[in-house]
Amino acid sequence: MKKKVIHYKALSPAQTARLSAAFDLEYVDVKAPGGEARLRERLPEAQGLLGSSFTLSSELLDLAPRLEAIASVSVGFDSYDLPELARRGILLCNTPDVLTESVADAAFSLLLASARRTVELANWVRAGQWRAGLGEAHFGCDVHGKTLGLVGMGRIGQAIARRASLGFGMHVNYTARTSKPLANERYGARFLPLHELLPACDFLCVTVPLSDETYHLLGAYELAQLPAHAIVVNVSRGPVLDEAALIAALQAGRLRGAGLDVFEREPLASDSPLLRLPNVVATPHSGSATHETREAMARCAVDNLLDALAGKRPANLVNPEVWQARC
Ligand code: DGY
Repeated sequence: MKKKVIHYKALSPAQTARLSAAFDLEYVDVKAPGGEARLRERLPEAQGLLGSSFTLSSELLDLAPRLEAIASVSVGFDSYDLPELARRGILLCNTPDVLTESVADAAFSLLLASARRTVELANWVRAGQWRAGLGEAHFGCDVHGKTLGLVGMGRIGQAIARRASLGFGMHVNYTARTSKPLANERYGARFLPLHELLPACDFLCVTVPLSDETYHLLGAYELAQLPAHAIVVNVSRGPVLDEAALIAALQAGRLRGAGLDVFEREPLASDSPLLRLPNVVATPHSGSATHETREAMARCAVDNLLDALAGKRPANLVNPEVWQARC
């Protein structure tokens, strides 16, 4: 008998076909009216789950006693309760690598858009206000040759460093748990403690994953260490930055601007003070949202689930200790 799999993220026909060939597959749109109730009804049979952007609380996991594996269509796994999954012997897989370059592109687009005021000026043109030449009030700032400080130098941090150094001739500094000799060598990157990195930044870009250690890593004190001409970019997770402190710094003119793809609460409320600041470029957690990358992420998640439910070690296991315990 085929194993029961529920996906709560819509998939392309190609990925749906791969799953249907191996499993008794069902799609539950958890965001639709009544969707969560339907998921609750189906969970008792589920041996595999695939999806993202939905929190599987321990109360929901209680309804799924047969659950063996979850394939998250994301690289981040901060929304999963790892001890709870370990206690229940449930494998968790993610989708690293396939989104690295797209997220780095998105980070750079936020950095460029904030520096060159692309959104603000494009809206100004659209509003019919371009009636004469530009004056200083419309100028942005250069990106090439400036100093980028990266908080986090994992895969995505290194892909941003490559763009910054080789594409824009920027100086790259970074803070991370350990020095990255390859990045130092290839991009002339300098490994610095946070308190030395911040005052040297023209641009600060956050790529470090959210964890207990990185929650509000950048608060009012840290933001005050940045020069007033600095631009902050966040493509990681909203709560790594203290959003209230960022808003206060921007409102007080203590920062030049911010390019943000992630927020403390998502979707961002339409009355967020961030949206009243012209020097903020806000995008809807869309770092990996390209046709190619979202399909690659789905394919990777399907690969992970096919392996996990066939008793093969999946390539992208977040909790290898659960696998070890099974062997
Ligand atoms: C990820 O994969 O974690 C991205 O942030 C998209 O959710």
